[in-house]
Amino acid sequence: MAQLLITGGAGFIGSHTCLVLLQDGHHLIVLDNHSNSSPVALERVRALAGLSSSANGGRERLHLIHGDIRDRSCLEQLFNDASSSGRPIEAVIHFAGLKAVGESVREPLRYWDVNLTGSRCLLAAMSAHDCRTLVFSSSATLYGYPECVPIPETTPIQPINPYGHSKAAVEQLLHDLAASAPNQWRIGCLRYFNPVGSHPSGAIGEDPLGIPNNLFPFVSQVAVGRRESLQVFGGDWPTSDGTGVRDYIHVMDLAEGHRAALDCLLAEPAQLLTLNLGSGQGASVLEVVHAFERASGRRVPFELVARREGDAAITVADPSLALRRLGWRTQRGLDDICRDGWAWQSANPAGYDSQG
Ligand code: NAD
Ligand code: WQD
Repeated sequence: MAQLLITGGAGFIGSHTCLVLLQDGHHLIVLDNHSNSSPVALERVRALAGLSSSANGGRERLHLIHGDIRDRSCLEQLFNDASSSGRPIEAVIHFAGLKAVGESVREPLRYWDVNLTGSRCLLAAMSAHDCRTLVFSSSATLYGYPECVPIPETTPIQPINPYGHSKAAVEQLLHDLAASAPNQWRIGCLRYFNPVGSHPSGAIGEDPLGIPNNLFPFVSQVAVGRRESLQVFGGDWPTSDGTGVRDYIHVMDLAEGHRAALDCLLAEPAQLLTLNLGSGQGASVLEVVHAFERASGRRVPFELVARREGDAAITVADPSLALRRLGWRTQRGLDDICRDGWAWQSANPAGYDSQG
């Protein structure tokens, strides 16, 4: 089993992926500055994976380091410590980054710094330590206003906000790096569509700071009574019910997609793989609202308001390449997403702070 570095592993997608990788028997070092996560998430992951938090075994297989990906000395120490412990880091899964589109428009310097400079620091440390296997969190946001749906990976990249630009720049950097050292780098750029839901236990889930930007956590917070009603951004889109359509992917399917990508990169000759991770199925805003109402037994009041700037009518993945290359496809649908999302929200109405 491999020793893996997981940057941003305490976050929403990272915590679920850590659980899957621990269940596979891997050893994990998580580097996270907790700018958008709680350390409680990894305590819960440790419990779900059956690792004792007090015994040494538990600590050894999941080691949390509070630090920043832009801190080169922290990265140096982490790679050196792993090597001298006899378990050098074999591969990195790089989740750490900032992800709020609106915030990126207001604070482009911060987004370029964390997302691009942070990735550059990480890649420099990896290169210096001969660690050349990386899975990178890219995003369907790269497609901007897509020309056709479902969207294949060959669709031209045309991001429309600083967040998207920073992700596109990292993808470009990864291409340049792979080209600079042929047959050395094993890189997976995974372009996620709309990750939602939670582990079915409800013990871990998405815990956004403040008012959620995204539909799914907003709907769950309305259902649990934390917010009064949902604003639906536009009822006049060219879709079946007039509301925006997205490809919602269960976070456990996404976590399993990372496992599949890692296994493929480690088994096959060096390559750079760029893959969409989505379900290939679209759901409208109102379909999400109604599915959540069924799953929770709660009403989700909403009002139709104007369209949100920067939104597209429909984004749905063509996930066929991931199936061909990884043998991976989503296993869970919208009802599973809502059932598991409600398990998390109802057990943790105020997120990880619910229990102090
Ligand atoms: P998240 O905010 O829950 O997780 C990111 C984690 O990175 C957090 O724990 C945060 O504390 C940590 N972090 C941020 N800056 C850091 C730094 N400088 N050093 C160390 N740690 C740092 O987000 P998520 O939803 O889990 O997303 C993970 C990745 O996937 C991000 O790169 C995001 O851009 C990408 N992504 C997310 C979505 C989505 O809708 N959630 C969609 C596509 C791509
Ligand atoms: C989904 C639908 C909204 C909130 C974003 C990022 C993207 C990626 C995933 C990181 C749209 C509508 C939303 C609300 C609403 N993240 N909506 N009321 O915009 O598809 O993608 O998250 O990489 O980069 O842009 O997701 O959940 O914000 O919106 O009506 O309060 O819900 O208009 O149709 P989006 P979302």
